[in-house]
Amino acid sequence: MIETMIYVHIPFCDSKCLYCNFVSGIYSEEIKQQYFLKLNKEIEYNANKKYIVTSIYIGGGTPSSIDSKYVVELINNIFTCFTIKDDVEITIEANPCSLTREKLHDYKNCKINRLSIGVQSLDNNCLKKIGRKHTRQKALKAINLARQCGFNNINADVLIGIPNQTYHKLKSTIKTLLKKVSHISAYMLINEPNTPLTRMIANNEVKVVDEDKCVSFYDKIVKYLNKKHFTRYEVSNFAKNDMICKHNMGYWQCKNYLGFGVSSHSYFLGERYYNTSNILEYIHSEFNYEKHKLTNSEKIEEYLMLGLRTKYGVNIEKLRSLGFDILTAKKTELDMLASNDFIQILDGAIIVNNDKFGVLNQIILKLLPN
Ligand SMILES: C[S@@+](CC[C@H](N)C(=O)[O-])C[C@H]1O[C@@H](n2cnc3c(N)ncnc32)[C@H](O)[C@@H]1O
Ligand code: SF4
Repeated sequence: MIETMIYVHIPFCDSKCLYCNFVSGIYSEEIKQQYFLKLNKEIEYNANKKYIVTSIYIGGGTPSSIDSKYVVELINNIFTCFTIKDDVEITIEANPCSLTREKLHDYKNCKINRLSIGVQSLDNNCLKKIGRKHTRQKALKAINLARQCGFNNINADVLIGIPNQTYHKLKSTIKTLLKKVSHISAYMLINEPNTPLTRMIANNEVKVVDEDKCVSFYDKIVKYLNKKHFTRYEVSNFAKNDMICKHNMGYWQCKNYLGFGVSSHSYFLGERYYNTSNILEYIHSEFNYEKHKLTNSEKIEEYLMLGLRTKYGVNIEKLRSLGFDILTAKKTELDMLASNDFIQILDGAIIVNNDKFGVLNQIILKLLPN
């Protein structure tokens, strides 16, 4: 028996936000039908009852934008094709505009037990600036509805660095959300190439919040959330009462995952598989995964880069099993980092100290194999 996580990509949205370059768009019902036909075939093609599924993540795009019958069918199919662990975590991503009571009931009935809602901000002016179609009121209504329908494991995505955002606006968003959700993902807004927002910035139509300001917003938010018992367990992720996202934690610990759907990838028994990023190609061509077997040094680098982002750090024994005796190979660097309070070595793990995440990249660079 082999433990694995499952990610499913739903590339559909009701509208495209100005900053987003995810593989997602607005498509006809006919394309949606064809997509789900193929997606279910892909799941069946990979079926194996020897695989024990520990978490399922339905991401996108906006999975809540589609008819929930597709979601129910998809989850049922996964339950038929694989062995599902009793305490499986099943997350679905949702947008405040499309979450309804009926959909929430359907999600609950097919064992979805975690919601991740794209809130981004509770300031109407900020929401407008980045092309979100919902208001503060609609976002709060969606969260309240989810709670009424029995969801108690809810994440809210928030963006730091939205044009016109002030620290006051950001803090007020977080202050309201933390009374209602158990998890907050606070991402720095990235100006991705080829997005309308990046073009607007280049044309001086919109003013970005400068980087130093974003970093100071982030540092203050980390302190504020900590004070409110939301622990940062990864650079951008904060959980109350240890309600961490098991699925994302699995990525950072380099666990197995199977990815289904357009643009998804998998990491399974040391090999990475990539699906096409073109939705029509995905629908119309045979399964043809691009495959890459990770070398040991790639595995070490990946584990260091992901693991050090978390509050659990990297396990020294695991690194040794990959052929990297970090205590010997990086003795000078580790001594220097530990004596200057950048890291600590605790219970067999190397952990970055809470107040040193601002220089995380420099720490990682020092610890990567030569
Ligand atoms: C798939 S979306 C979440 C669900 C839904 N599609 C929505 O937006 O309401 C995942 C998250 O990625 C984040 N995201 C998307 N583009 C980003 C960017 N350019 N920079 C930072 N975060 C981004 C947003 O916070 C978004 O909520
Ligand atoms: S942020 Fe979410 S809703 Fe907006 S375009 Fe991207 S995936 Fe769609």
